[in-house]
Amino acid sequence: MTFQTTPEKGRFITFEGGEGVGKSTQLARLAGHLRDCGVEVVTTREPGGTSKAEKLREFLLSGRAAPLGPLAEAALFSAARADHVATLIAPALKRGAWVLCDRFADSTRAYQGANGGVDAKTLALLERAAVGETRPDLTIMLDLPAQEGLARAASRRDGCEAADRFENEAPSFHEELRQAFLAIAESEPERCCVIDASLSVDGVARAVRALVHDRFLAHAAQAAQ
Ligand code: TYD
Repeated sequence: MTFQTTPEKGRFITFEGGEGVGKSTQLARLAGHLRDCGVEVVTTREPGGTSKAEKLREFLLSGRAAPLGPLAEAALFSAARADHVATLIAPALKRGAWVLCDRFADSTRAYQGANGGVDAKTLALLERAAVGETRPDLTIMLDLPAQEGLARAASRRDGCEAADRFENEAPSFHEELRQAFLAIAESEPERCCVIDASLSVDGVARAVRALVHDRFLAHAAQAAQ
């Protein structure tokens, strides 16, 4: 199986969802599969992905930014994103690589917007400033009941690490978060696809692969006609 990528622009795929839904595992599985198909793949994450953005990640996830409030946190996530897009994501796409990113702007919409109460207009301005034209071609929303995701995240830490700033929020925060991601998916069905993350790791990986083949091979075939 080969993917046709346009030489001047790769594909930008983001993985979104609440805590413990398996984004990192599924991103790695898809990256391996695409590389087997001969595609140049860049994997990255948010917040982070560049040295400047990783510094902001440390600040944000330690909880030290929390007293500044959700608007300041949204601005800091967006500042990290602006550097990430300009330095890593846009140049990779331009040379034809596929970029797989663990969380992106939908996380700000859901965590700082739906949950933190920052209004949608402000977030849209921040988003436009940070991402410009570099919007995902496909967003894979991994969906799981919040309690299940939190339990998975806790067992992944296995007592070795403390829960981060957002994992520590109340269960109701995480259930609202899930609804916020589902609402984004419903409002942008051409970009977003929800996948049931309660399936086995292999089952989810198969669903993700099928989706990516469907979206991008279908497009390549249509373009060739
Ligand atoms: P991470 O360890 O990457 O968590 P996960 O495995 O759940 O992706 O931590 C990222 C945390 O930052 C996560 O709790 C979601 C949160 N976040 C926001 O609140 N806003 C954002 O814009 C982004 C990108 C992440």
